[in-house]
Amino acid sequence: MSPGNPDFPEKAPPDRGASSFVYPASAANLRFFAGLLRDGGMVAMPTETVYGLAANALDPGACRAIFAVKGRPLFDPLIVHVADAAMAETLAFLPERFAPLAAAFWPGPLTLIVPKRPVVPDLVTAGKDTVALRLPRHPVARALLEQANVPLAAPSANPFGYVSPTRPEHVAESFGARVPFILDGGPCAIGIESTILDLSDPARPAILRPGAVTASAIAAVLGTAVQERRVVVPQGAAAPAPGTLERHYSPRSPLALFPEGASPPAQEGETVLLLKRPEQDSANPHIFWLSETGDPAEMAATLFTLLRQLDRAGYRRILCELPGSAAAGLAAAIRDRLLRAAGR
Ligand code: TXA
Ligand code: MG
Repeated sequence: MSPGNPDFPEKAPPDRGASSFVYPASAANLRFFAGLLRDGGMVAMPTETVYGLAANALDPGACRAIFAVKGRPLFDPLIVHVADAAMAETLAFLPERFAPLAAAFWPGPLTLIVPKRPVVPDLVTAGKDTVALRLPRHPVARALLEQANVPLAAPSANPFGYVSPTRPEHVAESFGARVPFILDGGPCAIGIESTILDLSDPARPAILRPGAVTASAIAAVLGTAVQERRVVVPQGAAAPAPGTLERHYSPRSPLALFPEGASPPAQEGETVLLLKRPEQDSANPHIFWLSETGDPAEMAATLFTLLRQLDRAGYRRILCELPGSAAAGLAAAIRDRLLRAAGR
């Protein structure tokens, strides 16, 4: 903390939660962490999609720490979170199509790729002339953004390539003392990363990563078709959106997929992850499911927690049911994440 910070004498030491690095989102803690972020620190914050590892987006040194802690290659740009549309305007040249989308989906799980202004450091955008902007809906993220009053670069708070975190303890498990400040916002309501919409060519909006905001909902607002560009980039190559790297979101145990509705080819030592509770109860204790009824929102909210849990259990292989290719909305987003987790 720099003594030059005007808040300095007022800063009380924050209150810790049950786990050593997890802090309740009390007013005093929010104030403290907002100051820490302004001073170039790093804080794990909850959003409605997944937990993010946040730093001041206008401070290249602070953002460099995010790349280092995550083991993230510098060619993979960060999403910048904003407190409101006015803050977005200071960071980017907003195309006409921005306003209706922000009005319809912000705050919420939609990230918009737009031409950046020079104020955004090249490190944040990996040298691109575009920046990814999002206004999250989670009240703790919003309070932190408003109090920090700086844009926050925040990729998902997981080691690069691993399953995203949807609970504060996921962040603590992965990083330990390397991420000593985690703000508790409970389990993430959506549980899967935001939809990324590329508006860099406003005439041809394209989804780079499917999420809770669907192509059809975006098309309805824009009154135009939206491309769904599932970019798959081989490992090691420079990538337009490395959420699009071939292998991503992967547990350490090998993950194999089987078609929706098929019977899983499980062997000794393997576990099965179904999309919904099986009709007949099974005596096999190694069968798990993402939802009771097949509701995609419930499936998305449990996906990363269950994958992490099964990974920790050390099975030889995780066999996971894959939503069919006709899946739409959140089910399509789950299909996307599972294909990537399996390296396909
Ligand atoms: O839901 C979310 O979006 C979460 C929460 C924390 O907000 N964040 C998240 O960030 O998923 P991350 O870094 O794990 O994924 C961001 C993706 C990356 O695949 C990155 O390559 C892509 O967005 N991206 C960022 N800036 C971009 C740009 N200018 N052009 C294309 N892709 C970009
Ligand atoms: Mg990520």
